[in-house]
Amino acid sequence: MELDYHPELRDLTIRRPQLKLLEDVPSPDWVVDNWETVKNFQAKPDDLLIATYPKAGSTWMQEIVDLISQNGIELIEKMAFPRVIKTHLPIQLVPKSFWEQDCKAIIVARNAKDSLVSYFHFHRTCHLVPEPGAWREFFQRFMNGKVSRGSWYDHVKGWWEAKDKHRILFLFYEDIKENPRREILKVAEFMEKVLEEDVIEKIVHLSSFKVMKDNPMANYTTVPMDIMDQNISRFMRKGEVGDWKNHFTVSQNEDFDEHYERQMGHSSLKFRNVL
Ligand code: A3P
Repeated sequence: MELDYHPELRDLTIRRPQLKLLEDVPSPDWVVDNWETVKNFQAKPDDLLIATYPKAGSTWMQEIVDLISQNGIELIEKMAFPRVIKTHLPIQLVPKSFWEQDCKAIIVARNAKDSLVSYFHFHRTCHLVPEPGAWREFFQRFMNGKVSRGSWYDHVKGWWEAKDKHRILFLFYEDIKENPRREILKVAEFMEKVLEEDVIEKIVHLSSFKVMKDNPMANYTTVPMDIMDQNISRFMRKGEVGDWKNHFTVSQNEDFDEHYERQMGHSSLKFRNVL
């Protein structure tokens, strides 16, 4: 279940959205125009929020959480409770009721360069975001925080700063790639679930890129072509760490690093080196 996906969207003719400001965060007009509904969302205490900047692996985490809830069994009908609610909202825009109800939240953060590359390809494919334009233009807009959902830098720093104020588990995409079993166990512990060894193995297997890529429940192939044209680029595209090297020029990399240092240098949030 996606927090800021409005049900009426299904009935609308799909056209690329305009970006509008939600407070100061550029967001698709279909989010902004339905904002009152999202803002007034009534969370329940056992709701579990998965929050990420786009392309950090939210679908991956959703699959892991679903598999943990269901003891490694894939059910066609998702269980009703606990509700797992996915969002790309920055911390300051999350409906207040989540914190009033002291809900738990899992955050997945992915290094900026791979997030940028993945987001570019997603824009080429998905009509729920504006046209990406050329790579070099998108690259600049991402650095300036002028893309849908705003600044990657503010988003990850905001959630990082909130992690000790709420019941938040903060994970990194690169860590899940490195050792999925270790990170899955962290999620299970956070969800207060004890898993048998064979169930853990099943979850590691079913949530691997290879299996999810061919799983229609996870690879978005059930989404109509006029919303997501996967002939252009698959949703489950590469699932790798360091793909940015195939896209950044040397001078783009220098500009990016310099800008990154200015945005992130003072933060205690450190991403691993993805060279
Ligand atoms: P790439 O475009 O780099 O391949 P989100 O679900 O938040 O939109 O993130 C999508 C990104 O997560 C895509 O990255 C996708 O391939 C990657 N992803 C999804 N499932 C994955 C998995 N099981 N293992 C590794 N990466 C995965």
